[in-house]
Amino acid sequence: MHHLHYITAMAESVDLSSLAFVRLPAKTLASSDRLLCSIKQTEKRTFPTNEAFDFDSELKKRTTVLHCVYRKQKDGPELCGYAVYIRSKLVTRIHKVCVVERFHGQGIGKWMVDMVLKELKKAAAGSVDLWVDAGRIPARRLYEACGFKEVQVVRDYYSPGRNGIRMQMNLVVEAWDTDAEGGDHTVRMHPLDLHQRYLAVPWLDHGRGYVQLADVLRTC
Ligand SMILES: CC(C)(COP(=O)(O)OP(=O)(O)OC[C@H]1O[C@@H](n2cnc3c(N)ncnc32)[C@H](O)[C@@H]1OP(=O)(O)O)[C@@H](O)C(=O)NCCC(=O)NCCS
Repeated sequence: MHHLHYITAMAESVDLSSLAFVRLPAKTLASSDRLLCSIKQTEKRTFPTNEAFDFDSELKKRTTVLHCVYRKQKDGPELCGYAVYIRSKLVTRIHKVCVVERFHGQGIGKWMVDMVLKELKKAAAGSVDLWVDAGRIPARRLYEACGFKEVQVVRDYYSPGRNGIRMQMNLVVEAWDTDAEGGDHTVRMHPLDLHQRYLAVPWLDHGRGYVQLADVLRTC
C-alpha cells in the first residue's frame, strides 16, 4: 500500500521536445475549451481565492494574453502549465506562471517562460517585469534562471508579512560595438544573446568593444 502511494505521488516524467505551446483561446484548436477548463481548475487548486485569476473576464481584454503548454495524449491534449502576461506600451507584465503540480521540477516552467520571452521579442516588447511573493522560492529561482533581476522590494505587498519583489528584464539593449577593423556600429539585441555572442568572440578581449559591451551587460 505504501509502495503504491509512493508511485502515485511521484512526478510524471515529460519529454520537453514533445510539448506544445499555444495561445488560448485558439479557434483552430479543437480542444481549446478543454484546456481552458483545466487552466481554471489548476488556478483554483494552486492559488488562494483572492489571488486566483478571473479568466472569464480578463481574457476579454485585448491586452491580456494567455499561453499554455500541453502534451499530446491518446485521449487529447493534457495541460502541463500556463502563463499570462499583460501588454502595455512601456512594459509587459508577466502576471501569472503556473505548472501543474505533478509536472514540477522538470524544466517545463523554464521552457514555458523562455517561449513567452521569445514571443515578446518577436512582438518587439522592450521591457518585461513581474511581481513575485518573496516566499515563493521556486518561482524566484525560475525567473532568475530566465534572466530577470530583482529591482524592488515592497513590504507587505501581498498581505501583512508577505513581501513582494519586482523583477525585471530588458528584452532589447543597445550597445556600441567595434568590429575587427576598428569601426563602430550599434547593435540591438536581447541581453542574453548579446552575452552569448560576445563572450564567444576572442578579439573582444582587447579593444574598445569589450569595455562598452561589458558596461551594457552590467546594467541589464
Ligand atoms: C514556479 C513554477 C512555475 C516552477 O515550475 P517548474 O516547471 O517546476 O520549474 P522548472 O523545472 O522549469 O525549474 C526552473 C528553475 O526554477 C528553479 N526551481 C524550480 N523548482 C524549484 C524548487 N522547488 N526549489 C528551488 N528552485 C526551484 C530552479 O532554479 C530551476 O532550475 P534548475 O532545475 O536548473 O535548478 C512552479 O513551481 C509552480 O507552478 N508553482 C506554483 C505557482 C507559482 O508559484 N507561480 C509563480 C507565481 S505567479
